Amino acid sequence: MSVLIKGVRLYGEGEAVDVLVDDGQIADIGAGLAAPDDAEVIEAAGQVLLPGFVDLHTHLREPGREDTETIESGSAAAALGGYTAVFAMANTSPVADTSVVTDHVWHRGQQVGLVDVHPVGAVTVGLRGEQLTEMALMAGSAGQVRMFSDDGKCVYDPLVMRRALEYATGLGVLIAQHAEEPRLTVDAVAHEGPTAARLGLAGWPRVAEESIVARDALLARDAGARVHICHASTAGTVELLKWAKQQGISVTAEVTPHHLLLDDSRLASYDGVNRVTPPLREASDAAALRQALADGVIDCVATDHAPHAEHEKCVEFAQARPGMLGLQTALSVVVETMVKPGLLSWRGVAAVMSENPARIVGLPDQGRPLEVGEPANLTVVDPDTSWTVAGGELASKSANTPFEAMVLPATVTATLLRGTITALDGKPVRTDTR
Ligand code: NCD
Ligand code: ZN
Repeated sequence: MSVLIKGVRLYGEGEAVDVLVDDGQIADIGAGLAAPDDAEVIEAAGQVLLPGFVDLHTHLREPGREDTETIESGSAAAALGGYTAVFAMANTSPVADTSVVTDHVWHRGQQVGLVDVHPVGAVTVGLRGEQLTEMALMAGSAGQVRMFSDDGKCVYDPLVMRRALEYATGLGVLIAQHAEEPRLTVDAVAHEGPTAARLGLAGWPRVAEESIVARDALLARDAGARVHICHASTAGTVELLKWAKQQGISVTAEVTPHHLLLDDSRLASYDGVNRVTPPLREASDAAALRQALADGVIDCVATDHAPHAEHEKCVEFAQARPGMLGLQTALSVVVETMVKPGLLSWRGVAAVMSENPARIVGLPDQGRPLEVGEPANLTVVDPDTSWTVAGGELASKSANTPFEAMVLPATVTATLLRGTITALDGKPVRTDTR
């Protein structure tokens, strides 16, 4: 089956063209292309064509908490958000610390077929931070694990982290660190600062993140390894990343949409929906993160999509589980915070949401140029629309979006995975339900 996407501007640049997709690839690009008989036509006049998005940080909750998300529901949210590949974090139940679990995640994702769900393997057994997992077995099995992370927990022990970096280097895989020195965040629920003090919430200081970022950059330097920093959240982390990159250390970092847009002034309502790890920081941190993303100091956007049930979120703030939905709102938040103020062009969006994450984790068929012969992993965006976020209407099985009732710019109108439409006009398209 072929697809003809009509009237799009590649990376939002130049004249509008038609893009013919056939046999999983971009087959032709030009003005006024004729649609083959079997072609599905997507009318996309005035819209922007981008390479499909890649999310390095997604929590899909399967196995173990299928009441809050499944690989199926999360894949639908991903496709609707413009994603063609996501990395499903290892903090499931059981933990993804063996190939039994990581292979299940991979196979189930392929069965659903809406997005490539790449399993993330745990760095340590049970995420306990003590004993390294069999990374080589997970890397070598069907799910081909390329990224390892204890996300949700920090690999706090410097010796364990050092060994993990050494093994990962040998295997050619990525270690992604949830940077949180646990001794500095005991009982912490909010960013340590004037807001938390006023509200009487226990504080999570910036140094809990920054001390681990600095330590891991130095460990990576000495091991000749690379390290990826999950959900960078402070201005100080930005300075450390800048320093480390200037030294030639192989450190990369992601920022979440919620840390780009929101700050701790949201906490005044005591609404548990705003609890997240790392916490929403101050407006000055958010501004530094936006600038760092524009400058390339932070490499990419990752959602940290973290579904939670209503009974885990609609409770006293300190009891609420940390985490926020992100897959279906990410692009719009990036447009709001980065494109509208002129910090990023659409080409820049392609870099931070597709090309850079694909490169960081080494996915050969994602984040590719929009050229004939390239794999057709594509996202079509209408830049001139806006929509009102409603958690209950998202494809996720949970509704914990911090952007509830916000009007956000730009909509994903179509997503294609290897030439097959996976989302169209706000609805996921399952191949087996066509
Ligand atoms: C994540 C979760 O719910 O699994 N929560 C969060 O607040 N970000 C874990 C994590 O990414 O740290
Ligand atoms: Zn985390």
